[in-house]
Amino acid sequence: MMDVFETKILIIDDDDEVRYSLSRVLQRRNFEIIEASSGEEGIEVASKEFPDIIFLDNRMGGMSGLETLQHLTGISDRFLVIMMTAYGTTQTAIEAMKFGAFDYIIKPFDTEKVQNLVDGALQAKADRESVGDYEPLLNSDDYKEGIVGSSDAMQDVFKQIGQIAASEVTVLINGESGTGKELIAKAIYQHSLRSGGPYIAVNCAAIPENLIESELFGHEKGSFTGASQMRKGKFELCDGGTIFLDEIGDMELATQTKVLRVLQESEIQRVGGNETLKVNVRLIAATNKDLENMVERKDFREDLYYRLNVARISLPKLKERSSDIAELIDFMLQRLKKQGKSKVNRTSSEVLSLLQNYPWPGNVRELENIIHRASAISQGDTILLKDLPQEIKNWASENKQHVADINSETLFEKEEKYQSDTSPDFTEFGPETLDVSQLESCFEKLYGKLRETGQEKILALIEKAMVKKALEETQANQVKASAILGITRATLKKRVEQYKDEG
Ligand SMILES: Nc1ncnc2c1ncn2[C@@H]1O[C@H](COP(=O)(O)OP(=O)(O)OP(=O)(O)O)[C@@H](O)[C@H]1O
Ligand SMILES: [Mg+2]
Repeated sequence: MMDVFETKILIIDDDDEVRYSLSRVLQRRNFEIIEASSGEEGIEVASKEFPDIIFLDNRMGGMSGLETLQHLTGISDRFLVIMMTAYGTTQTAIEAMKFGAFDYIIKPFDTEKVQNLVDGALQAKADRESVGDYEPLLNSDDYKEGIVGSSDAMQDVFKQIGQIAASEVTVLINGESGTGKELIAKAIYQHSLRSGGPYIAVNCAAIPENLIESELFGHEKGSFTGASQMRKGKFELCDGGTIFLDEIGDMELATQTKVLRVLQESEIQRVGGNETLKVNVRLIAATNKDLENMVERKDFREDLYYRLNVARISLPKLKERSSDIAELIDFMLQRLKKQGKSKVNRTSSEVLSLLQNYPWPGNVRELENIIHRASAISQGDTILLKDLPQEIKNWASENKQHVADINSETLFEKEEKYQSDTSPDFTEFGPETLDVSQLESCFEKLYGKLRETGQEKILALIEKAMVKKALEETQANQVKASAILGITRATLKKRVEQYKDEG
């Protein structure tokens, strides 16, 4: 079916007058105008009609504009959404753009501004269609340090990546949610001979069923309602590159048949087209589903399964590689710190021990969420038990026997005590405000205690503690440690020898 109009515009606003006046302005240009009076209705209309441009009111009863925007961009990244706000606050503008709006406009409108916006949107649409839209990948440094894991299980995964990356084989990655499937797919691409070519990730579970074929294979102009222009699909755009079909276990059987054809014949047909196009694409697929089981139940094509399963990487659950947890936490904290999002350096030993024993149903993603949250809450440079979410604390007290090294009965008290009296608290001032008088007050208690107990050679004692800390921090790198302490390397060496003798 061919559309009479070249361009379709959807107006979503709960104010009849705004819809009326805006459609009057736009109708002069012979656009097809559709209207919806709420966010919910707008989403429904958009997924049926597939408009080119959407005007969306920010303030509506029911679903808000920003919420509606997120739904719309979830349906298709090709919708050009123009947000309308009654007041021009930076906040709304930033949020709108962050959530994928094309532009925003402040009410009341001036006609010329509306026309210009529409022209700009149409131009952007034309540009996108001609250039294609594969995601520019992270630059390679980002990912190189981005995968952590010293456990045997992860080392095996890295080896497998090395073995298969340079070949052209199809790879099937499976593993529970949050185990790092996407990360591994990118690493395979980065290490492959195709690393200079495009990499396109498609989340098969996120795209509505009726759009997935057009998304993957493209469509001809007029092939269905809303197909106002020819559009290339991801396979075509990815020619010469690597395509990542994420959540392939959620793909419909009909689509599976077409994917199989690409693998067997290296060719595709756009939806509604007769022409056969040759494409040269390497496929990486991932799923958290049990594909073997699905094949048995006839929910997944057996022939496609064998085509995909040429090389297989199974990602271990985090629970099965708890030796990686400390390293993962360290990596996450360092990254947050580098991004200026937190000052936290470490976790208390109680926290670490607890996190190493927790079963992690959501795997690395869950760990990452908890570390992000705890770093945001933490007041000092150390994540303490109190910074952890209640579920984890509950788990700890319910599973005393699983928590090694700590007596969980006194778990929380112990930490509190540690914080309140024995240790001077440096956390309320950063290094930039640290001066001698503050240092004095920090050491007051400690000094008193040492005097009380008749301790001699106080300075040597403190020095020893500091040397130990510096060596710990630098992993016994004497050059770095002596620089931190402000003593020569020779002096540091002497001290280390001396402490050894003292035992
Ligand atoms: N080995 C790892 N080192 C560092 N970060 C990791 C590692 N594995 C996973 N992550 C991080 O954990 C999060 C989840 O990873 P990813 O999205 O790759 O998992 P997934 O298996 O695709 O999950 P889902 O099934 O939920 O889509 C990401 O933020 C990722 O960066
Ligand atoms: Mg994923």
